[in-house]
Amino acid sequence: MHYFSYQKKELYCEEVPLSFLAKKFGTPLYVYSKKTILEHFYKIKKAFSEIHPLICYSLKANSNLSILKLLVKEGGGLDIVSGGELFRARVINCPPKKIVYASVGKKEEEIKEAIDYRILLFNVESERELIRINLIAQEKKKKVDVALRINPDIKTFTHKYITTAEKETKFGIDIKTAKKIFSLRSNFPYINISGLHIHIGSQITKSTPFIKAIKKTLPLIEEAKKAKINLRYFNIGGGLGIVYNRERPQTAEEFAKKVLPLLKETGLKIILEPGRFIVGNAGVLLTQVLYIKDTPFKRFIIVDAAMNDLIRPALYGGYHKIVPVRKLQIANYRLQIKKKADVVGSICETSDFLGKDRKLNVEEKDYLAILGCGAYGFSMSSNYNSRPRAGEVLVDKDKVFLIRERETYNDLIRKEKINEVL
Ligand code: LLP
Repeated sequence: MHYFSYQKKELYCEEVPLSFLAKKFGTPLYVYSKKTILEHFYKIKKAFSEIHPLICYSLKANSNLSILKLLVKEGGGLDIVSGGELFRARVINCPPKKIVYASVGKKEEEIKEAIDYRILLFNVESERELIRINLIAQEKKKKVDVALRINPDIKTFTHKYITTAEKETKFGIDIKTAKKIFSLRSNFPYINISGLHIHIGSQITKSTPFIKAIKKTLPLIEEAKKAKINLRYFNIGGGLGIVYNRERPQTAEEFAKKVLPLLKETGLKIILEPGRFIVGNAGVLLTQVLYIKDTPFKRFIIVDAAMNDLIRPALYGGYHKIVPVRKLQIANYRLQIKKKADVVGSICETSDFLGKDRKLNVEEKDYLAILGCGAYGFSMSSNYNSRPRAGEVLVDKDKVFLIRERETYNDLIRKEKINEVL
């Protein structure tokens, strides 16, 4: 579900034609639909309304300040993973008690900043981290609330780079060690173990892995009680899958129906950390066709976006639909859909593709929209090949807001120094 649709063969975002945006702001350009973002946020909120969870949007999916502001204004919190993300949260005045902080490698500086900002919970990923936080809290003479991130060791059936709940991965604390930590809790006088956290992976389309993970974690709540640990929160992470191609992911409602009975049983405040589900289908990447190159073997549609703008295809084999911004009469075209083509960027890597074997009826200078780019699109973009990063635009009905300017060449070298000795 999203608000990108054709009206008379012209692709719109809400009430604005994408070709207008491409011409006004240039390409490559990320375009987001405000209505799509908010509807997805409310889908989760509604599905879980019985238990009033804290929905901490996982800002790594798309960390643009305007999008964060939008979600925080609607009552959302934030799931952060770095000092930089904490900084973003602070810039938009996210209430500290709506911030949770995961990461297997929190630096001392980052821990200090988060303690000073009085965030709700650190999601602690190892015993060593617990020791470190305890020491810093002691120096600051403050008590710090943490949730233990549990690695439930289950299969998630998603891409192996984004599964986080198998024992071979670096994430979380195994159940046995968690029990040990409960029994050693007097070693951590400056820490309240206030919750449990799981995040089993991303783009998970079925509820079974979530249920398995929750069921494996529930006995720890009992264990904690026995150890006189007063748990208040159960954070079930993010990971809900969306439609990129032919997936049929569970809806928020179906998901809630399955997990709510288990969650209610705990009596704890539930936290959710959706990222992709909220923004994934709310964004497209607009690009212009530069050349159509026919080799004896293959047709390539060479566009002005590349793997530095959208790395998902290169990194995870991620599939994104690619559609023309203007559907024109096939008869007008020199190159009709005879061959399937690879849509590629201009970067000097063979992995620089945005789509493979696509049937696209396009000419040079046409605009294309790469769909499903709202999550892990711009936030994973880079300056590789010294390419300035794309601009970002948010559409609200017929209004258009430039929420990030396209980078300039000067931005590329802003932090660099030419040493005179060289
Ligand atoms: N919570 C934690 C602790 C996470 O690590 C993540 C994502 C989330 C929540 C949000 O997950 P989501 O609801 O968005 O699935 N770059 C990859 C996805 C990496 C996910 C990393 N962690 C991609 O493009 O598919």
